[in-house]
Amino acid sequence: MSAVNIPDMLRIVREHGLKVISLDIDLETMAPKIQLLDALVTERTKALVVASIYGRRFNMAPVVQAARDRGLIVIEDCAESFCGFEYLGYKDSDLALFSFGPIKHHTAFGGAIAKVHSKELYRKMFHLYESDPVQSRMEYLKKIIKYSVVYALLDCPRIVKPGMYLTRLLNINHKKHIINMLRGFPDKLMQKLRHQPCDALLAMMVLRLGEVDVIQDSLSNLKHEYVSERLPGTVTQVGMKADVRNHWLFPIVVVSCCLAAGKTLPEVICLSSDSSSFLVSCT
Ligand SMILES: Cc1ncc(COP(=O)(O)O)c(C=O)c1O
Repeated sequence: MSAVNIPDMLRIVREHGLKVISLDIDLETMAPKIQLLDALVTERTKALVVASIYGRRFNMAPVVQAARDRGLIVIEDCAESFCGFEYLGYKDSDLALFSFGPIKHHTAFGGAIAKVHSKELYRKMFHLYESDPVQSRMEYLKKIIKYSVVYALLDCPRIVKPGMYLTRLLNINHKKHIINMLRGFPDKLMQKLRHQPCDALLAMMVLRLGEVDVIQDSLSNLKHEYVSERLPGTVTQVGMKADVRNHWLFPIVVVSCCLAAGKTLPEVICLSSDSSSFLVSCT
């Protein structure tokens, strides 16, 4: 699995009785270092999961070739990189997965697209999918209300600033709580994943994805370029040599000075943007 992904993806793999081996990525291109594959792949290795994180995209051709040479299937995790229907994953990867969860640019408050290469795999997946229960409309409505409230609060400096001050004063780890609030499935992950979307969610996906706003995306890229050009040279910007540089998040590497042993370690901080504001978050 390429080395940067969300913790839930590791959980899903492990829940299927599989072991995760981490494959380092190049911080400039964000591509996995395929030259390390020989040291990691054994006869028990089944698949290579490659994530296009932070909205960056790199050349998948050598990655798929390297996986094929070693008999591995290729799963592209494009959860953070949907930017319209022109690109739905590399043509030869076995599976490409896109997410429209609550914190995505093109969110539908849930839902996903899976592009499956082989008809046989598609049939197997569809058979499993058909036996999943359908999510209730009420559950979907609750999700919309919850995230609308969270978004409104996080977008309001008059609430966020005193809130941050208070959490610091009380020594509460606000990052942990906010990340938990924004997770699509904060509890019972596997059980909740195994649901078909309700008709309301499908209708929302049709509405949202029918109008992918290219101008909005370019505007977001412009804002990031504006910030990028003004950052001090001591800050390492991540993924600056990626083939496609969209910005779901804007990660920078800084040296953290708050380690107990007095040592300093690189830490990745991410900035994300919507049409109106920049928000500091972290991985
Ligand atoms: C890299 C990556 N993979 C997978 C997921 C899971 O997507 P979701 O739970 O929204 O379907 C996310 C969500 O943020 C992600 O960032």
